[in-house]
Amino acid sequence: MKRLGIYNNKGGVGKSTLTANLGAGLALKLGYKTLILDLDSQRDSSKSLGVLDVERAINDIFEQEEARRKGRVVANEVKLKDCIIYNVRENLDVLTNRGLKDIESYIKETRRYDLVFGKMLIDLEKMDYGCIVIDCGPSQTSINDAILSYVDCIMVPIQTEAASVEAIGNVYEYLTMLDLPSSKVKFIVPNMFDSRLLDAKRNLVRIHEYFKNHTHVVITEPIQRKVKITEAGAHGKSTFEHDRKAASQFSKVVESVAEYLKP
Ligand SMILES: Nc1ncnc2c1ncn2[C@@H]1O[C@H](COP(=O)(O)OP(=O)(O)OP(=O)(O)O)[C@@H](O)[C@H]1O
Ligand SMILES: [Mg+2]
Repeated sequence: MKRLGIYNNKGGVGKSTLTANLGAGLALKLGYKTLILDLDSQRDSSKSLGVLDVERAINDIFEQEEARRKGRVVANEVKLKDCIIYNVRENLDVLTNRGLKDIESYIKETRRYDLVFGKMLIDLEKMDYGCIVIDCGPSQTSINDAILSYVDCIMVPIQTEAASVEAIGNVYEYLTMLDLPSSKVKFIVPNMFDSRLLDAKRNLVRIHEYFKNHTHVVITEPIQRKVKITEAGAHGKSTFEHDRKAASQFSKVVESVAEYLKP
């Protein structure tokens, strides 16, 4: 089981869109048993797959641990397996959230934030997921400190516009601050690319130049800016269930991750 975090401290670059479509692609196209862990308080990746129900969520596990920490007796133990929403699609389950405030405070009060998710998600080790795709919120938060420590690798979507390209270094600065190796960044996904625009082409070249010495980093083919991609999410569908051309934008990303997942 590999844990893949989708992160960029910049907002609106396509993290949630990529999470939903990568998860759906791995599950529906390639048959990988996949779990999407939604750690974006807006729950965009869950919603874009039609998951609106938050009755079961990762919060239940944190609330229970918080109660234990305060020395309260927990009568009916909640298990992680009871928090997962199963069969959102064939091979695709979702573990979503009901807001992140309480989780954020729990982690803030924990000395070893780097061990929190390993403990909370320990039961996943016994389940048969090939991959956990984790949607992270933007910016530097205690939850992101903890989840970036937990993941095996990070995928960074980058919008092909100047400000986003200039901000790439912020991800590495964050990893350094957390004392995590820069090699955790394995995939770069240029997003919202418009091949008709010279500026977008220039920014794509700049992305490739930035990573030319990072030999372990895979830069996938750019994902074009397509209305059908947004439209699919708004209908609670992945692109694979909505529009062939929009889906084809994610195929290469899915294949690159599948290559990485091979034993
Ligand atoms: N390739 C694309 N083509 C068209 N629209 C896109 C594309 N990628 C993302 N979008 C749209 O851009 C918006 C922002 O995307 P998304 O919510 O995935 O970004 P995010 O990085 O998760 O944002 P946040 O930082 O707020 O969590 C959404 O409306 C989404 O549908
Ligand atoms: Mg998001």
